[in-house]
Amino acid sequence: MSTTANEVETIWREADCLWTEQQIERAIEAVAQTIETDLADKDPLVLVVMKGGMIFGARLVMRLRFPLELDYIHATRYGLETQGAELHWKVLPQHPLEGRHVLVVDDILDEGETLCKILQSCRQQQPASLRCTVLVDKVHERKYQPDFKADYTCLEVPDRFVFGYGMDYKGYLRNADGIFAVKGL
Ligand code: IMP
Ligand code: MG
Repeated sequence: MSTTANEVETIWREADCLWTEQQIERAIEAVAQTIETDLADKDPLVLVVMKGGMIFGARLVMRLRFPLELDYIHATRYGLETQGAELHWKVLPQHPLEGRHVLVVDDILDEGETLCKILQSCRQQQPASLRCTVLVDKVHERKYQPDFKADYTCLEVPDRFVFGYGMDYKGYLRNADGIFAVKGL
């Protein structure tokens, strides 16, 4: 095994489980029911933010029992350390957003700069409505827009480094079947 894989194995073994798969699935089901009320008759376009949103996106859409289109987007910020860095699209939405009811699906609202910029960029295409959902909201006072909340949040996590259910630690552990916090972080 590579050094990183070895390190990651230890990280996983020693991590604190914050939410179990069962708890997460219950929270996703509750959010899915609210989304169904809001979007079931709106032929929505669901945009999953890669890579973190992929597992939450998959689990969520299978609980949405109405017609929808599913697409993915991939965006990063250049110069992550500086606020105000430009959004760089690795993969743009393949569907035109104009006039569509759009739901953006992401893994975590940490500081929220990337998600806020993704939403700003989507808004420029004049969707009929634009909503976002996150699996977890990290509780702290460093939000990019202090009053910003996702329209639908499944769970909260404390201000620690978390992984699992799509969220990575050094590119690994997205496959962990719960939400875990790295010991000491
Ligand atoms: P933000 O702009 O600070 O909200 O975070 C941008 C992205 O960084 C998120 O969509 C995640 O993919 C990733 N990220 C932020 N915090 C964590 C974490 O605690 N664990 C894993 N990934 C994270
Ligand atoms: Mg992300």
